[in-house]
Amino acid sequence: MIKLPFFNRKRRIELQPTTLQLENIPNHIAIIMDGNGRWAKKRGLPRIAGHKEGMTTVRRIVKAANRINVKVLTLYAFSKENWKRPQAEVEFLMKLPKEFLTTYLPELIEENVKVQTIGDLEGLPSFTREAVREAMEQTKHNDGLILNFALNYGGRYELVNAVQSMMQDVQEKKLQLDEVDESCISRYLYTEEMADPDLIIRTSGEHRLSNFLLWQSAYAELWFTEVLWPDFDELLFEQAVSDFQNRKRRYGGI
Ligand code: FPP
Repeated sequence: MIKLPFFNRKRRIELQPTTLQLENIPNHIAIIMDGNGRWAKKRGLPRIAGHKEGMTTVRRIVKAANRINVKVLTLYAFSKENWKRPQAEVEFLMKLPKEFLTTYLPELIEENVKVQTIGDLEGLPSFTREAVREAMEQTKHNDGLILNFALNYGGRYELVNAVQSMMQDVQEKKLQLDEVDESCISRYLYTEEMADPDLIIRTSGEHRLSNFLLWQSAYAELWFTEVLWPDFDELLFEQAVSDFQNRKRRYGGI
């Protein structure tokens, strides 16, 4: 194993050494942050305490991803299906992006992180939307890690939207039917020009995609851990990356 210090791209500050190999770091890592409720229940706390703790894990993992030069980190923060939860929990989850971004925006700017989102932002309360818009605006010129929050996101919803937009463009003669191929469909998704995820991590022992990045995950490597999201840390994150580095990706070939 090579053991070298990493440098933040903009600030050139020496960060903690990592034992990861420097080659073959996944460009895009996406995470299904699961297990907040169970983490809280195990401690006799309300579910929202798990979400709050999960926010500090987000901070840790953003730093860990930035440190090893991951280009995009997509975090599944709120799904289209999460509206089915009790109203008080939904209200709390809606406040988290604002709390996270208000607290950590200076740090994200300092670390050259660019905030982006995927999902149906129009369906969010205005204070959530505003917090996200502000963070995107203030970090738009950063060229370090892209921190991409999936908010009010659903993979099937995304595909329905894409098909509707494509059909409209065909009707308006902005798009020809024979131009519709895989890369064209990708451009109509929330992720647009963003590279597909190389590695998808899910915490808490559940083994499913839950409507996350359905199109984009076609060739992603999947990595699961029993650990609940609030307990997930840099070491486990690096273990996931290290396991990824040992996988053979064949894309249907031999
Ligand atoms: C799933 O755990 C988690 C969520 C639906 C919310 C994810 C939110 C965070 C990790 C907080 C950080 C968010 C931001 C925007 C900084 P669950 O509640 O389904 O857990 P359970 O399966 O144990 O009930």
